[in-house]
Amino acid sequence: MHFMPNELCNDRFETAAQTPLVDPYGRGVEYLRLSVTDRCDLRCVYCMAENMVFLPKKEMLTLEELDRLCASFIGLGVRKIRLTGGEPLVRRNVLWLIEQLGRHLESKTLDEVTLTTNGTQLVKYASALYEAGVRRINVSLDSLKPEKFQKITRWGEIDKVFAGIEAAQKAGLRVKINTVALKNVNQEELFDIVAWCAAQDLDLTFIEVMPMGALTAESDANMRFDQFWSLADLRTELESRYEIQDVPIRSAGPANYVRLRESGQKIGFITPMSHNFCESCNRVRITCTGRLYLCLGQEDSVDLRRPLRLSESNALLEQEIRQAIMQKPKGHDFIIEAEKDRPSVPRHMNVTGG
Ligand code: 5AD
Ligand code: SF4
Repeated sequence: MHFMPNELCNDRFETAAQTPLVDPYGRGVEYLRLSVTDRCDLRCVYCMAENMVFLPKKEMLTLEELDRLCASFIGLGVRKIRLTGGEPLVRRNVLWLIEQLGRHLESKTLDEVTLTTNGTQLVKYASALYEAGVRRINVSLDSLKPEKFQKITRWGEIDKVFAGIEAAQKAGLRVKINTVALKNVNQEELFDIVAWCAAQDLDLTFIEVMPMGALTAESDANMRFDQFWSLADLRTELESRYEIQDVPIRSAGPANYVRLRESGQKIGFITPMSHNFCESCNRVRITCTGRLYLCLGQEDSVDLRRPLRLSESNALLEQEIRQAIMQKPKGHDFIIEAEKDRPSVPRHMNVTGG
């Protein structure tokens, strides 16, 4: 399969009914993050409560509805779709959806289908993902130590993830590791994680922990997750061992990159609570119930399940998507106040995906 880079597609909006999606601040919406399930086979302490109550089936969009939703967004100019969760690969028959999306890659109406996964199912799915047109995936992994991994995820087996990563690489997928920076938890593994990624030819991005859901102090008696490790501090720690250069590429996303001068290894930093990327934000998120979130840091959302189910044609849906995009806020609004005892964004991370 051959994928044409974005710039070379001069007929990119031929299929769009009208003009592409552009919000009131002139930002084109080209990136859709779709949570296909709120379920997961792990229970990472910063993401979920141990005894989570998951959504009833009837609330969830069917795979056919998710496909219609994606097709509408592609018709309106979205060029990249990332499947998230929960864990996207625990959704039954999710491969069918990925294969449907792969057809848009073949017809060059879409540039990329990718996913963020915890890696536990990759041995089973890696080749099929590649066949469907997926070329890159993100795998979440916060520790290289079996016991610590188990504590963070409450019951995960790290060997499954290692085997999954290997299977993905063998299948031809480029793998990026996402590591949430957790003070006093994986802090002492910083250099090991960096070296391991270099040795395994894995890309690496650190993510600052976000204040979401009912987490922190009550999470786990064995570990304290209430201590925030800022990426600024993580960077300082890296600088104690390596010479670091900033990489001046500014993608539309929240990541900044540095390069280790000695090895050339590139490392990403995602600080979701900083505002510096809002002005170039090109993304929206959809939950598995069809709620469109226009900004990760705000509660404003629009229900797309109703228009999906009201009419078999996509005209109503597309009209509501266009209206919704006009509500995309200028920037987000995380509030980090010491006296606030509630997280500033009350939904759990598995609702909107990372
Ligand atoms: N803060 C930062 N990242 C989070 N993730 C889940 N919950 C949080 C949080 N509270 C990350 C996961 C994974 C992605 C899906 O989102 O570790 O990398
Ligand atoms: Fe599952 Fe990812 Fe949440 Fe961990 S962070 S519980 S792997 S969805």
